[in-house]
Amino acid sequence: MPSNVIVGLQWGDEGKGKITDLLAKNSDYVIRYQGGNNSGHSIHIKNHYFVLHLIPSGVIYSGVKCIIGPGVVIDPKSLIQEIQNLESMGINTSKVFLAKRAHITMPYHRLLDQYQEEALGDKSIGTTHKGIGPTYVDKVDRIGIRVLDLLDLKVFYKKLKYNIDFKNQIFTKIFQREPLSFQSVYEEYIEYAKILSNRIIDVVYEIHDAFHNKKRILFEGAQAMLLDLNYGTYPYVTTSSTSTGGVCTGVGIPPNFLKNFIGITKAYCTRVGFGPFPTEINNEIGDAIRQKGNEYGATTKRPRRCGWLDLISLKYSCMINGINYLIITKLDVLSELDIIKVCIKYKCDNKIIQYFPSNIKQNLEGIYIDFPGWKKDISHIYEYKYLPKNCKKYIKFIEDYLKLEILLISVGSERNQNIIKNESLFLEIFT
Ligand code: GDP
Ligand code: IMO
Ligand code: MG
Repeated sequence: MPSNVIVGLQWGDEGKGKITDLLAKNSDYVIRYQGGNNSGHSIHIKNHYFVLHLIPSGVIYSGVKCIIGPGVVIDPKSLIQEIQNLESMGINTSKVFLAKRAHITMPYHRLLDQYQEEALGDKSIGTTHKGIGPTYVDKVDRIGIRVLDLLDLKVFYKKLKYNIDFKNQIFTKIFQREPLSFQSVYEEYIEYAKILSNRIIDVVYEIHDAFHNKKRILFEGAQAMLLDLNYGTYPYVTTSSTSTGGVCTGVGIPPNFLKNFIGITKAYCTRVGFGPFPTEINNEIGDAIRQKGNEYGATTKRPRRCGWLDLISLKYSCMINGINYLIITKLDVLSELDIIKVCIKYKCDNKIIQYFPSNIKQNLEGIYIDFPGWKKDISHIYEYKYLPKNCKKYIKFIEDYLKLEILLISVGSERNQNIIKNESLFLEIFT
């Protein structure tokens, strides 16, 4: 059975956690393929709130197998904490597995992330300080430590020794910081290995078998298109391939295993960390959106920068990801606004452009069309026909501009606060 992919189309935090959880109900597997615990995916069910960083957002359903794929970088300390938190909230995590080939985030990666950011000063990226970039750097440098290395203490010892000796040179000579103790890191990680050992699997064969046994597989993207290492707003990006293209390399499957590419966008736009954001609103309207949308990072608690929906970047994201259906979230957040703006062109150095530039600059400005607000609470509407007229106009404009159908509109954080716009199509895709 061909599989579905969920990806974020903006700068992250579009509501991938909420939507993946919703769709997991009809999935046998939910699989993460890139990123690490820089993600924060929120799920809200009645009065329970969960934030997942590494564990796929299918974990709330006890029958769903949740796999952290080979393309993910795994901080075992964070993963164990997450497992314990979930168990303490009554969630069964026995179906959570991790890939042998995934690379491990070590304490020196977290430190390097922090020291490098500090050294960059006003040019810093605004990373999550979780060590994601340095872990991927070691992977590419072919000195990384993989999950499977934890299962062979001799190999682990040798690899860790090399890495700590090397990193300690950098810490002491370049950053003038304290060196790390090999012994304490070694002992710490051996404990993690013991705790996680029964969850470590060969993901490649597992997924191929699942596919041939017609299992329903959902791939859950982390971060989002505009943070993609190759196609995002470089250098203000994360360090993995966040697009649908990353699924194949991230879990070891061919492209023809994939069927539907579902893109998620907020009804407006946010960004955490530094870097260009052409539609950013730096006034009380931006503040109002932040308050109403509770736009504070799920991982770092930083206030998210807020802005208007940007259709130029959204079209670019849909194009690269091969999106065939859209899901729009947080439409309820715009309900109190008099005017809602949508960016349809950019102005840069006095030129008007209608594409997403490869060298996007901080001085890029959005050119907008205005929509009248609907000024009505929509968070308890469950059928499209009951949405206010102005709200439908906004939705229709987005669909027409992108030439894509919106499958579902999310109008609140709770699992059930949704409007399924095209019920039969929705059921066809997700059952
Ligand atoms: P993710 O990283 O894409 O999974 O998104 P996050 O969980 O980091 O951020 C999305 C935030 O918006 C979370 O706090 C969600 O609970 C919340 N959320 C998701 N969908 C909606 C919605 O339609 N309306 C409102 N008001 N909140 C939502
Ligand atoms: P989810 O999956 C929003 C941002 C950071 C920073 C940049 C690089 O919850 O949507 P990194 O630590 O990855 O090296 O930081 O990427 N970033 C995110 N922003 N949502 C995320 O994940 C993010 N993961 C990383 O803020 O700007
Ligand atoms: Mg998030």
